[in-house]
Amino acid sequence: MTRLTTLQAVRKYWPQYKWSSIWEMARNMRAIPEVCDDDFASKLVVITGGTSGIGYQTARKYASCGAKLLLINRNENKSVAVCDKLRAEFGVDCTYLLGDLSRLDHMHRIGQALSELNDPIAVLIHNAGSYLSRRTATMDGLEMNFALHHLAPLVINHLVLDKLTSQESSRILVNSSEGYRFAIWGVRTDDLNWEKRRYTGLGAYGAAKMSQLLTMMIFAESVRGTGVTVNAMHPGVVRTNTGHENGKLYRRFKEYFIDPISQTPQVAAEALYFLGVSTSIEGKSGCFFHLTREEEVAPPARDLDVAERLWEISHAMGKLG
Ligand SMILES: NC(=O)c1ccc[n+]([C@@H]2O[C@H](COP(=O)([O-])OP(=O)(O)OC[C@H]3O[C@@H](n4cnc5c(N)ncnc54)[C@H](OP(=O)(O)O)[C@@H]3O)[C@@H](O)[C@H]2O)c1
Repeated sequence: MTRLTTLQAVRKYWPQYKWSSIWEMARNMRAIPEVCDDDFASKLVVITGGTSGIGYQTARKYASCGAKLLLINRNENKSVAVCDKLRAEFGVDCTYLLGDLSRLDHMHRIGQALSELNDPIAVLIHNAGSYLSRRTATMDGLEMNFALHHLAPLVINHLVLDKLTSQESSRILVNSSEGYRFAIWGVRTDDLNWEKRRYTGLGAYGAAKMSQLLTMMIFAESVRGTGVTVNAMHPGVVRTNTGHENGKLYRRFKEYFIDPISQTPQVAAEALYFLGVSTSIEGKSGCFFHLTREEEVAPPARDLDVAERLWEISHAMGKLG
């Protein structure tokens, strides 16, 4: 099946939209998330983008519960500073690997390195991300949101899969976003690079986040029964460095209108700890959580036909055999 036109997408998805799901999202925005303080001593946790915002606070939370950390970052100085701080404050083992996760060669190198680790990976958190108001091409000529948010987790999961399935268990978490809803009529699999239509920051971010969710559905099915689970989480609207690459106008807008209504990254970090550690969600997989509350995703994010097509195209774009 080829891609749906917008009209076909409207006809297909509109009858599936339920007001109850929108109310559920609104309720979840006000709900108090669950917290877990179980010990996680010496368990290895891998976090991408651990140098600031949610990734950094999540690393702190895991470190405070004794976990051993491996951060995947693109900046060496920041990585050294973060690891030194976590070691000094919590006495835990913290190391890092350097990689620009928008680059295919780095995605492959990181995935390969993770697959060769001796320790079992208890939790793998795909967190690195950005928000770009202008279309930006990666070194490989891919649209940045698509490469960083969607292809990097897909490539790394693929390369580390044999290791994870050989372990007793492992949890993969994707730092997703309710922003996937900006791709209101779904992902255009004929234009994942945003070359055939006008780029919008929200549209491209939403499509990349929706691509994560669509392929998670297939990945979760493929690992069912192996002890590996994969879930996605919306962290709330969080005060972080996100969008700092954009122009002055965007930064001012964020400073005056978004940051004052945003919550601290600690709330998201607590939720990523809960989802990585709590026994209460043992075995749950393929789910979307609004912080710690499970939520049904919108119709285009659970379209299996699109997911299967995207899965194939993404594996080819990610140069996975
Ligand atoms: N903030 C929100 O309201 C919000 C809402 C929904 C979802 N999210 C998601 O939360 C995740 C974390 O974002 P944040 O809000 O915490 O933003 P942030 O403070 O900007 O943190 C982003 C992290 O990703 C890293 N990163 C960016 N591009 C990278 C690349 N090419 N290769 C490797 N690492 C890279 C950054 O490294 P540097 O320090 O080197 O820049 C940083 O460590 C993102 O996936 C975002 O989409 C955020």
